Amino acid sequence: MPRSGELIRNPIGNCDAQAGLLQHTGLVATKRNVHEALDKIEQLWSPHVVGEVNDYDVKVANVAGEFAEHVHDDTDEVFLVLAGRLHLDLPDATVTLDPMDLYTVPRGVRHRPRADAGTRILMLEPRGTSQDGTPAGTTGVRLT
Ligand code: NI
Repeated sequence: MPRSGELIRNPIGNCDAQAGLLQHTGLVATKRNVHEALDKIEQLWSPHVVGEVNDYDVKVANVAGEFAEHVHDDTDEVFLVLAGRLHLDLPDATVTLDPMDLYTVPRGVRHRPRADAGTRILMLEPRGTSQDGTPAGTTGVRLT
């Protein structure tokens, strides 16, 4: 049984197309346990890329307290809460997400994430999306 972070070998073997797909990057076809990855991340609000799907990144972060209010003009942003509780302050309402609640902030909608202590979130965004909507914002730490 592969451990988290180990490449799952193609069980079929000699198909170049499949081999090429599996070797696309270290993040594709790599089994990864999200909670084990989060256990190693000490910094809060620091997105780490744990997977990819086409031109999207799957990011996770440990969060607590407030993050800066911001907007993504060009993309929606998916949040899935893995543990704890995340509040998204939107212009007209606050959305509160409990474990396994999923919510998509539409593009162009300002949001201020806030979280209880011990909250873990997963986000799905186009690769290169800045965390705070500015060019200077991090696009996520890529795990290897
Ligand atoms: Ni955002």
